[in-house]
This record gives sequence, C-alpha cells and structure tokens, in this order.
Amino acid sequence: MKAAIVGSGFMGRVHLEALRRLGSVEAVPVRGRDETAFRAALADPTIKAVHICTPNCSHFALAKTAMEAGKHVLCEKPLTTSAGEAEELVALARAKNIRNCTCHNLRYYPMVQHIRRMREDGDLGEILVVQGTYSQDWLLYDTDWNWRIDPRESGPSRVMADIGSHWCDMAEHITGRRISALCADLQTFHRTRKRPKGEVETFAGKNLAPEDYDEMPIQTEDFGSVIFHMGERTRGAYTASQVSAGCKNGLSIEVYGSKMSAAWNQERPDELWIGNRNTNNQVIVKDPALLKDRAKSYADLPGGHSEGYDDTFKQVFRRFYGSIENPAETAEYPQFEDGLRQLHILEAELESHKLRGWVNLY
Ligand SMILES: NC(=O)c1ccc[n+]([C@@H]2O[C@H](COP(=O)([O-])OP(=O)(O)OC[C@H]3O[C@@H](n4cnc5c(N)ncnc54)[C@H](O)[C@@H]3O)[C@@H](O)[C@H]2O)c1
Repeated sequence: MKAAIVGSGFMGRVHLEALRRLGSVEAVPVRGRDETAFRAALADPTIKAVHICTPNCSHFALAKTAMEAGKHVLCEKPLTTSAGEAEELVALARAKNIRNCTCHNLRYYPMVQHIRRMREDGDLGEILVVQGTYSQDWLLYDTDWNWRIDPRESGPSRVMADIGSHWCDMAEHITGRRISALCADLQTFHRTRKRPKGEVETFAGKNLAPEDYDEMPIQTEDFGSVIFHMGERTRGAYTASQVSAGCKNGLSIEVYGSKMSAAWNQERPDELWIGNRNTNNQVIVKDPALLKDRAKSYADLPGGHSEGYDDTFKQVFRRFYGSIENPAETAEYPQFEDGLRQLHILEAELESHKLRGWVNLY
C-alpha cells in the first residue's frame, strides 16, 4: 500500500520515518506548497491514504479534497481551526465510508495505555481529580517565531490548540470521562514579537540575527490555565505553556482515584508513578511482560529498551492501516470525531476566557 505525506517539516519527517519503520506502507512525500504534486498524488490509484502534516489552517481544505478523491486521511492535530469545519469533515468521512484519523498520538505511549487499563479494571477506584500540564519553552523570547504564532496559519488559538488539545485528549482517553464544564484564563505575555523575514521551521528559530526580524503585534496566547469538571464529582485542572524555561516537551498527567493514584511525564515516558495511601509508593518501568494485557500491544520492545515519542506514531499508523486492510475492523485509534471533540473543548476555552466565566460542554 502507498501513502502520500503532505508537508515536509517536523511532522512530515516524523510521519515518513514512522511509516518506513512500519514496513507495510510505502511513503510518498508530496513536496512544496504547489498544488500540482498534491493533485498528482490524488490521481494516483496506488496511493490509498494521505497524511496531512501542514500548518493547521490548511488541514480542512487538504483533508476535504483528499476524501473527495476517495483517499483515507490521517490528519495532524488540531483537525481544523473551527468546530464547524471539523463537523463537515466528520460528515464527509462518514458519507464516503473513509477511514479517518486525527493524530492524537500521545495516547499511545505504553505507560499511558497502562493507566487507561488500570482505570478500566477499577484499580484506581473512583476518579476524583485529574491534573497536569503541557509545558514547553521554545516560544519564551520575543524573538522566537513560528507559523503557530500567526492566527492566519494557526487559527484563533495557539498554545491551547497546539498542545492543550493533546493534554485534554489524553485526560479524556485515560479517564473515560468527558470534560463537562470548564473555566479558562489565557495570557499573551508578548504583545509584540519579532518575526523573521524568512520561513522558520518548528523548533529551529534559535539561529537568527537581529536584522533578520520584523516587529509584529500578537493575538494568540502564550499560556493558558483551565479548571474543569468531568461530570458531577470529578474535578480537574491543567495548564499549557510555551514560555516555561527548561520544559522541552513536558506533558505530565496525574490521576487521583479513591483507591490509588497514577502519574506520568512525557519526558520520562517509560516510568509510571503509582501513589498509595497506606503502602509504599512505586515507580514501575515499562516492560511488556508486566503491562496490563490490553496495554501490551502498545509496546514493541522488551523492558529496559526505551520507547518514546516517535514510537507513538508507529502505533497509530499500524492501527490505521490495519483498519484499511480489514474494512470490518473497528477503528482503534483517534478519529476525526476525536479531533472535533478537541475543537469543541478549544472553542469552550476561548469563549470562557472571553466571558471570564464557566462554559458547559456536552
Ligand atoms: N502530533 C504531534 O505530536 C505533533 C507535533 C508537532 C506538530 N504537529 C502538527 O503537525 C502540523 C505541522 O506542524 P510542523 O511542526 O510539522 O510544522 P513545520 O513548520 O515544521 O512543517 C510544516 C510544513 O508544511 C509545509 N506547508 C505549508 N503549507 C503547505 C501546503 N498548503 N501544502 C503543502 N505543504 C505545506 C511547510 O513548507 C513545511 O514544510 C501542525 O498541524 C501541527 O499542529 C503535531
């Protein structure tokens, strides 16, 4: 099977490598912004699926065009820049019976799956509190720039759309509960930033000189904090930040249950902290032989052999392509519906910040 990858930056390269490691799918990079190469890929009947790895604002049109051409679509998050667009994609995928995935890959760390299965087995008891952060530092200085800062490319939100969406997806996936109401406060520390005169790839802005910049007004947020309800009793809070010095890709999530707690940090992905009230706490280390049975398939290497960020993509892609090969198979990966869900949460966060109050979700 062949797959086209649109966008050849950070994510385009990660997808290309993960597909190669998967082994069963031949990846065909579609280079440049010129539509000709994209149209040629859509016209090629040997290409069954399209990966969309471009800035957020282009996802909707690319995904729609690819599905209209009959291709299965795996789109990077956020699925689109508005819930209305995402609803259209969900409906189109359903009408055309097309396999669709929103790349919330971070769910697929083995230890995250282990917590999810602990919760399903009742090990944690009733989930009382969910808290954490997704903190990075690569946009700390006013000289740091990326297309994500520009709402014409990123959409109306930056940090909450870019990394807050991953945190909320993980929180709902682990707990099996939905955020039912939230109150958000967003902050833009740099009201202006110095934009490089040329294009700068993700995480690559540290090498520029002062004369390489233009001064630009900024609307998108650098930081956000959210308190939320998950139904009647469960409570939670999280922050998302791209200005936290020292945090590189610091997603941490803590789940406090009535029996025990579990805490995981993306920067130490093979470890899981288990908190007990009456016995010693534990740090358990990823070992497929010791994972919950229904988490085992998310780990490919034996204990002591680390599995990290790039492996999560392989896990998503394996399940996505498995479902294309076997049309009867249930989709065991985040779909466009999940991307739409995150856009509803995101729009609630933006509305809450604007109103300075609580917003209900379904
Ligand atoms: N799942 C994850 O963990 C994760 C991590 C990073 C980024 N992302 C998502 O991946 C997407 C891409 O982000 P990135 O960090 O790779 O950005 P990037 O800037 O590194 O790369 C984007 C690439 O897309 C190209 N491009 C722009 N418009 C295009 C178009 N219309 N057609 C074809 N190519 C086009 C650019 O030239 C560039 O090569 C974003 O939606 C982002 O949110 C997801």
